[in-house]
Amino acid sequence: SGARREGAEDAPVLNIGHRGASGYAPEHTIAAYDLAKKMGADYVEQDLQLTRDGVLVSLHDETLDRTARPTAESAPGDCTGPVREKTLAQIKTCDVGSWFNEAYPQYASEEYVGLRIPTLEEVFGRYRKSVNYYIETKSPEAAPGVEEELLRLMDEYGLTRPAAEKWQVLIQSFSPASLQKIHALDPSLPLIQLYAGAETSQTIQPRLDLAATYAVGIGPSKNDVDRPLVEAAHARCLDLHPYTVNETAEMEGLINLGVDGMFTNFPDRLEAVLGKD
Ligand code: G3P
Ligand code: CA
Repeated sequence: SGARREGAEDAPVLNIGHRGASGYAPEHTIAAYDLAKKMGADYVEQDLQLTRDGVLVSLHDETLDRTARPTAESAPGDCTGPVREKTLAQIKTCDVGSWFNEAYPQYASEEYVGLRIPTLEEVFGRYRKSVNYYIETKSPEAAPGVEEELLRLMDEYGLTRPAAEKWQVLIQSFSPASLQKIHALDPSLPLIQLYAGAETSQTIQPRLDLAATYAVGIGPSKNDVDRPLVEAAHARCLDLHPYTVNETAEMEGLINLGVDGMFTNFPDRLEAVLGKD
């Protein structure tokens, strides 16, 4: 890593469907991933959690409470509390679509009712190499083994070398330790160092030299992006993909600052800004 991809200055700005097209469909469901792909997202994002029985699933929160609702198949407690305390069979009983219909009635659909948490293997099996994946190791300290299992599955689906060279899978984390572990396991994998929203351009810049030893890019909060940060990242051959950018005016502002891509819940809006619709 460390080498910015060839011709990066002229490369198109990457459209990253954040949790899928999660502005329009329930996050981290096949419906949201299908829609992101249909809307032209270059990447579909997954956040990873590990079940008690060691299965990687695509879910943002460490707990089920915000997005999971019990169904007739659920036993009491199957759909509340930490994911890592549940088996895959337990969390597969939960409905992760209905909450969205309640929260966003303007985008509600009957088709979302009863949608299940996808495993990473189901996601790889469905899309194979027809999409690019942007996968986050979440709270890796609390989920020992998540990196090894991710690499095992990527290998099984042909998503390591040579796919790694064209950035078929970008692996992101807020945890430098998690990314350094992956880099040690397979230095050919392109990695993105995330920085929390509490950081600023000034606090991120001194950390870029370290990031450049294992990552190909950084993912700061959109509010932390200014021209000095873009220039400091590019000077170290690091691409810059801010999160989470949902308004057209923000997208245009960040493109003018020189970012290389961005996470959005509304990939169609970014496609329109990029003139690819
Ligand atoms: O991964 C980029 C962005 O998604 C980080 O924030 O909390 O949405 O995973 P979060
Ligand atoms: Ca994420």
